[in-house]
Amino acid sequence: MDLKSQINLEKLPRHIAVIMDGNGRWAKQHGKPRVFGHRNGVKSVRETTEAAAELGVEYLTLYAFSTENWNRPQFEINALMTLLVETLRKEVETLNENNIRLQAIGDLTKLPKKTYKALMEGIKATSQNTRMTLVLALNYSARWEILNAVKELAQKIDNKQLKQAEINEKTFEHALSTHGIPDPELLIRTSGETRISNFLLWQIAYAELYFTPIFWPEFRKNNLYDAIIDFQQRERRFGKTSEQLA
Ligand code: IPE
Ligand code: IPE
Ligand code: MG
Repeated sequence: MDLKSQINLEKLPRHIAVIMDGNGRWAKQHGKPRVFGHRNGVKSVRETTEAAAELGVEYLTLYAFSTENWNRPQFEINALMTLLVETLRKEVETLNENNIRLQAIGDLTKLPKKTYKALMEGIKATSQNTRMTLVLALNYSARWEILNAVKELAQKIDNKQLKQAEINEKTFEHALSTHGIPDPELLIRTSGETRISNFLLWQIAYAELYFTPIFWPEFRKNNLYDAIIDFQQRERRFGKTSEQLA
């Protein structure tokens, strides 16, 4: 039986987040520069987005560039930013054809002007689409996001728009860049690394984590199906006992 038909569409995660990792090592394996890996990673982005939308996943968040990634060699940063602009421009049409809305999280104003512009254009051009939301995490850091939220709430208290007693999960979440987006139920990381690397720390409090040794440029629809099937076999207890769930 093919993998896709093993997925229970009634129990689909509403939101899947992916740490796309292993581009550099994949390129090295092929005797190519790291940028070759990034370029080939675009196909995996396309496949994953298409597969998620076809299944009926509502939100797909892809970690494309972390705040820590500014520490890479300038050449690689430039190549990644150029690739982003190219891909955004090229794929907007496909996103519209597939009724997919683009959004972004992260400290976006610190992106290079061209990247920021292409991103905003993509977001605007797809804003009316309703089938799935594709969220790109760009210059994203979960600690930055959390601190930002704290500052926003503190400011509101200073301005007497909010009382300390009104700080709760709901008001806090409202100040995060993911407000309005449900928490990811499934977090996938490729390339065999088993860490979170400052991604969605608040939002993944109860996510199921899935690690695969596959390098990102090799990730295909079937790899996403594998992850979802694995997810659906898990018992999500949320603190309860197994007997309570039965
Ligand atoms: C992920 O692949 C892409 C980005 C972080 C932008 P890497 O570039 O981290 O690849 P590895 O981990 O060095 O193999
Ligand atoms: C995490 O990957 C960030 C992205 C996938 C964009 P990295 O490859 O940068 O993570 P670390 O530094 O190895 O943890
Ligand atoms: Mg990496």
